[in-house]
Amino acid sequence: MTAQLAVEKLDVAYGDFQVLWQAELQVQPGQIVALLGPNGAGKSTLMNTISGLNKAASGSITFEGKRIDHLPAHQTVGEGIAHVLERRRLFPFLTVLDNVLLGAHNPRARPMREETLAKVEALFPILKARRSQLANTLSGGEQQMVAIARGIMARPKLLMVDEPFLGLAPMMVEEIGKLMQRIRDEQGIGIIFIEQNVELALRLADHGFILESGRTILDGPSADLLKSDEVKRIFLGDFAF
Ligand SMILES: Nc1ncnc2c1ncn2[C@@H]1O[C@H](COP(=O)(O)OP(=O)(O)OP(=O)(O)O)[C@@H](O)[C@H]1O
Ligand SMILES: [Mg+2]
Repeated sequence: MTAQLAVEKLDVAYGDFQVLWQAELQVQPGQIVALLGPNGAGKSTLMNTISGLNKAASGSITFEGKRIDHLPAHQTVGEGIAHVLERRRLFPFLTVLDNVLLGAHNPRARPMREETLAKVEALFPILKARRSQLANTLSGGEQQMVAIARGIMARPKLLMVDEPFLGLAPMMVEEIGKLMQRIRDEQGIGIIFIEQNVELALRLADHGFILESGRTILDGPSADLLKSDEVKRIFLGDFAF
């Protein structure tokens, strides 16, 4: 199977400070991939480089057969990659509906805006009920739903979400996890997400990649990683199997 997204030998630096060293990542079509690793490992940097917010010093990023590593963020959206940034980044004083609709800004998505909105509101009925509520009056979990809904409004083939579960209560984590699986199963959209809790992440994902100090040191099907001694070593103390 050809990977939908392939990151190869990616080096990324902030000025003189190199963060990613020959990083690798692959996503198969319609797969949920967990991007794991300790704080500061470079997970957000890798996601930001895929979406064009950061520039690579060397290496390649190929999406559906096309090199995208020189594209700015507004163009990677046009290629079919949506990026939900860490901490949601909603417009607090806009309504839920306006925040969601902003996701359809790109030329690919705009003509189909109403149709996509109907799909998105079927996935997230609560957002339909809260259409006219200001975003800053929603709970953290509801705001994360708005952020993901906004991502889907861009009609992506691949959705990237940086720490979707950060600070959420267990019930909300479960609900958003199920939504991500429905997005994969019903829309055929592939997903990459970043998460600190390895066990939680691997229960949800099909495949995991582990970054340590900017290098991809391990990847595999989630079920294998959950049993791996290497994974236990890396995250020792983070959780108990
Ligand atoms: N804009 C920036 N300028 C300079 N250094 C940065 C910048 N963004 C990130 N870094 C540094 O790059 C390294 C990797 O950061 P990054 O945010 O990619 O890690 P992360 O794996 O997402 O961490 P976390 O789990 O804490 O979110 C860190 O040492 C961080 O301080
Ligand atoms: Mg991060």
